[in-house]
Amino acid sequence: MQIKKDFSLKNFNTFGIDARAQFFVEVTSVEELRIALQLADYPEKFILGGGSNMLLVNDIKALVIHVNIKGKEIISENANHVKIKVMAGENWHQVVLWTLEQDFGGLENMSLIPGNTGTAPVQNIGAYGVELKDTFVSCEAMDRNNQEIKEFSKEDCKFGYRESFFKSEGRDAFVITAVTFELSKKNHKLNTGYGAIEDELQKRNILNPTIKDISNAVITIRNSKLPDPKKLGNSGSFFKNPIITKSEFERFIEKHSAAPFYKVSESAFKIPAGWLIEQCGLKGKRLGDAGVHTKQALVLVNYDSASGKEILDLAHTIIKEVYARFGISIQPEVNIIK
Ligand code: EPU
Repeated sequence: MQIKKDFSLKNFNTFGIDARAQFFVEVTSVEELRIALQLADYPEKFILGGGSNMLLVNDIKALVIHVNIKGKEIISENANHVKIKVMAGENWHQVVLWTLEQDFGGLENMSLIPGNTGTAPVQNIGAYGVELKDTFVSCEAMDRNNQEIKEFSKEDCKFGYRESFFKSEGRDAFVITAVTFELSKKNHKLNTGYGAIEDELQKRNILNPTIKDISNAVITIRNSKLPDPKKLGNSGSFFKNPIITKSEFERFIEKHSAAPFYKVSESAFKIPAGWLIEQCGLKGKRLGDAGVHTKQALVLVNYDSASGKEILDLAHTIIKEVYARFGISIQPEVNIIK
């Protein structure tokens, strides 16, 4: 374990922000993570996973611990199901591809989501009608205070829409080291309900899709509107889709009858923030190197050397304009690190 000083995090966050870590160390095993957390000479510590859901606004005056623990294995199976355990540092999309190679079903709709497996439960990643919680069994996490490993059941994780215990009460208290999923081996439950997937399968003349077909459709859809972080820095959806009450929704839809929406429950409706932002004329807006993506207004991008502060200023402008026009307050999904 080598501790580096004044280390650029540009290649360790998908926004490609050139923030610097005062100290930086990579850990490749649970034991190394324990040792790093115990280093008394570095009282301030900051945990960094795949860096795919954060905006670094300032340099980090701490020891940045980059969790890069690899490994994935089948831990049990029967005729219908398989349980797999994946270590935190495994790249999410590579894990999805590995499950598909073996015809294990459940993760296919979440193909190509950037980031690592260890951070996936933190915001309960999701796409095209499926969320991590649908196949999640449990995870192991190290308590940052006493370095003990604790197991969290699905209930313990308190998953919600892009939310979990690790993003609320448990914030900064634990480091997820491994995640266990239960996947199907046969009679896969296919989720093609999300409009764009059906259209894509139809285009390909696929009537009875396999899980691999669904994954390929998702990859094509994502590639058509979401920028590849290796080419254009971004953190996926920057904002959450706002959820409004029934009475707010009724007032909203009367004025904006063309707006897309999802009914969350009898009393709650979700409005796509991308639509709200686009209606404000902000799609493609650029402030220096910080921009609103031209193909999906929910995504903010770093054209080259935007600072975290510039991206944040753009986000504040968007929040203000959406509120002024619609009276709806949108919130970042991405963790803002100040
Ligand atoms: N829309 C616009 N303009 C835009 C973007 C979207 O009018 O610039 C409209 C679309 O036409 C559509 C609706 O908004 O009617 C929804 O758009 P889309 O299907 O692209 O999904 P989203 O609600 O914008 C969410 C997730 C994405 C996920 C997709 C597909 C959140 C915050 N985002 O986006 O997740 O890939 O659904 O399931 O829930 C991520 O979290 O990083 C992410 C990319």
